[in-house]
Amino acid sequence: MGDQAVPAGQIGALPTGGYDMIRLQRALPERYTSASPDDLDRWIGAAKAALGERVLVLGHHYQRDEVMGWADARGDSFALSRIAAERRDAEYIVFCGVHFMAESADILTGDHQQVVLPDLNAGCSMADMADIDAVEEAWEELALTTDVERIVPITYMNSSAALKAFVGRRGGSVCTSSNARAVLTWALNPAGDGQIPPPGDRVLFFPDQHLGRNTAFDLGYDASDMRVWNPRAPHGGLSDVDVKSATLLLWRGHCSVHQRFRPEHVAAFREDHPDGLVVVHPECAHDVVESADLAGSTDFIIRAVDEAPAGSVIGVGTEIHLVKRLHDEHPDKTVVCLDPLVCPCSTMSRIDPPHLAWVLEGLVEGEVRNRITVDPDTAAWAKVALERMLATT
Ligand code: 13P
Ligand code: SF4
Repeated sequence: MGDQAVPAGQIGALPTGGYDMIRLQRALPERYTSASPDDLDRWIGAAKAALGERVLVLGHHYQRDEVMGWADARGDSFALSRIAAERRDAEYIVFCGVHFMAESADILTGDHQQVVLPDLNAGCSMADMADIDAVEEAWEELALTTDVERIVPITYMNSSAALKAFVGRRGGSVCTSSNARAVLTWALNPAGDGQIPPPGDRVLFFPDQHLGRNTAFDLGYDASDMRVWNPRAPHGGLSDVDVKSATLLLWRGHCSVHQRFRPEHVAAFREDHPDGLVVVHPECAHDVVESADLAGSTDFIIRAVDEAPAGSVIGVGTEIHLVKRLHDEHPDKTVVCLDPLVCPCSTMSRIDPPHLAWVLEGLVEGEVRNRITVDPDTAAWAKVALERMLATT
């Protein structure tokens, strides 16, 4: 957990918590913007070699290949948060993912470790759909109609540290796409299990309505158990009866990458490949997940493709860098993106070799560029919510 002031000159390396959406990446020096790919590779390789075990480069599965090639560990957001927590010896964690992932790494790592995000503009549009002010307002409005003590707030990993802390303070938990089922089961378990804080009888789930809905259906709830809370409408756009009768209140947020996938894409794939396998991420809308054969986190998708027999044709509904990598790594299988109009995560793509070279060379020179720090109070409560998740799964 970082708790030091931001050194002067590190524009944009702001401690987060209260103003988590302010991110300003300063322009890179020309040395990096005009460098050839070969130069950048040499500089990155030399800086990594000079830093040795002092640096750990983490790469999320959506990262571009030119960056992923330098990652010491790859993973989904859950796996990367675990790795960051376990590697106590690494002085610097260079997180090639997006902002909320780097924040989680800062929360889970020790005070002697510093987390770096190569481009501060690598945010997540979904995470930004539930800002702390809107969530606090919603909570106050809910308190007018219902007993909020009985609501368990659950935030998807794709959220700011401030939201994770909000949840931690109120007996809730973080979840990821690989453990949302376990976390919701815990939250809605009327008996509790005596070891972890007593759960409630309903959930406020944010920011991704789709992950919440897909997981709830998977657990046997039906549409009448769920209501969408629209943060832009008075009282979430819901009547008192709606709120009181809902087991799951789903925040109206989404991922612009995954929301593009439509059931028509699945139908078109099946028409071309009647024996093909369809695997999608649970951030896709429910009608897409319903029409797929399998749905799961990025790690799950990778395993599904790995385990499919040679000769399989697999239609994948997730970010294009991962789909392309799966295609390249499985020459004995045909792996295609379900959406022919290909959809990158534009914020994740901001992490590129020039930014990676810039932060690594800074570390060699003793300058920590783009450090991500979460203020101690926010970090302490966010850690409670993250640890609840780790204990549940
Ligand atoms: P995973 O947790 O499956 O890695 O997903 C993170 C993400 O941002 C998906 O859009
Ligand atoms: Fe956020 Fe979607 Fe990008 Fe994942 S793919 S980081 S949810 S914008």
